[in-house]
Amino acid sequence: FSAFLTDSFGRRHSYLRISLTEKCNLRCQYCIAGGGVKLTPRAQLLTTAEVLALARLFVHEGVEKIRLTGGEPLIRPDILDIIAELRKLKGLKTIAATTNGMNLSRLLPGLKVAGLDLLNISLDSLVPAKFEFIVRRKGFHKVMEGIDKAIEMGYNPVKVNCVVMRGLNDDEVLDFVALTKRKPLDVRFIEYMPFDGNKWNFKKMVSYQEMLDHIRQQWPDLEQLQGGETDTAKAYRVPGYLGQVGFITSMSDHFCGSCNRLRITADGNLKVCLFGNSEVSLRDCLRSGAPDQELLEIIGAAVGRKKKQHAGMFSISQMKNRPMILIGATPTAS
Ligand code: GTP
Ligand code: 5AD
Ligand code: SF4
Repeated sequence: FSAFLTDSFGRRHSYLRISLTEKCNLRCQYCIAGGGVKLTPRAQLLTTAEVLALARLFVHEGVEKIRLTGGEPLIRPDILDIIAELRKLKGLKTIAATTNGMNLSRLLPGLKVAGLDLLNISLDSLVPAKFEFIVRRKGFHKVMEGIDKAIEMGYNPVKVNCVVMRGLNDDEVLDFVALTKRKPLDVRFIEYMPFDGNKWNFKKMVSYQEMLDHIRQQWPDLEQLQGGETDTAKAYRVPGYLGQVGFITSMSDHFCGSCNRLRITADGNLKVCLFGNSEVSLRDCLRSGAPDQELLEIIGAAVGRKKKQHAGMFSISQMKNRPMILIGATPTAS
């Protein structure tokens, strides 16, 4: 495995998240501040050729999984071409995307043909009016249709991301668990994380332990499943249910020790940790015509500076970071 992608704690970074756009067709409260975000001028965003050149380089060094994020990756006009080109990279085993599901139903056939392997879809409420309040747009039924169609088309597992916020959707946790009875979904409850402008506060966060206690009151036999070594979620299942549930505990029980992820922002910065604002521009290096070796040295130096873990809940909440939509929605300290 490439020394450039191995950090000083021996973590091998074989999973790359690439943000394809800063734009989004939703305005989720936990992702975007009320006033919106200032977008990067187009000329500073990675072109498709640059995205593919970077992907090729990382795959050559040992990246096996690429996840396309945003903003909303499915609004990038050439999304299908990008996936089809990534599919040609020898050594790349998995191409995944994290989407809000708004355009999914329409794009699914094309995504499948182009070679997309895995889908994670955000859904924070099962009540249409509440969904629309959280995302500040209409579209609940479109997202549900996208989820059902993804299942029909054989995507497995289809993961559903639910950011749990006290007083907003924490009363729906049991309904989301119930959804896994007949649908083979992997519903992940995500602890609400602070990012620039998202008005996070400690009281709004519902912890893993609290959610688990709540669910066990109704389903005392909820069983924990063995997860993969680098999974973000702790997995559980109600015996007999088709689907499963999970908890992404970035706040109460971080999983930095097994982190295998790197991310590239839409403006071409390498970010070695979701939290923390240490970034280095790969775009500038590419545009200067630098040879691969030089890019690799810059990447290797950034990976080498990656901290052991983000500094805990208090520091994250005090930290300056990009808003999630500019990281790879799908939000992350040191
Ligand atoms: P897979 O494990 O590949 O299915 O995806 P994922 O769960 O990492 O990705 P997804 O885009 O669905 O993100 C879901 C949530 O995972 C995000 O909201 C984050 O809370 C969390 N997450 C993703 N990457 C990281 C990371 O590098 N660090 C931390 N702490 N959390 C992350
Ligand atoms: N806290 C937790 N998760 C978040 N996401 C976006 N913002 C936050 C936040 N502040 C999630 C979205 C999406 C995933 C990529 O990140 O729900 O599913
Ligand atoms: Fe858009 Fe995703 Fe952010 Fe919601 S969380 S506004 S869907 S980028």
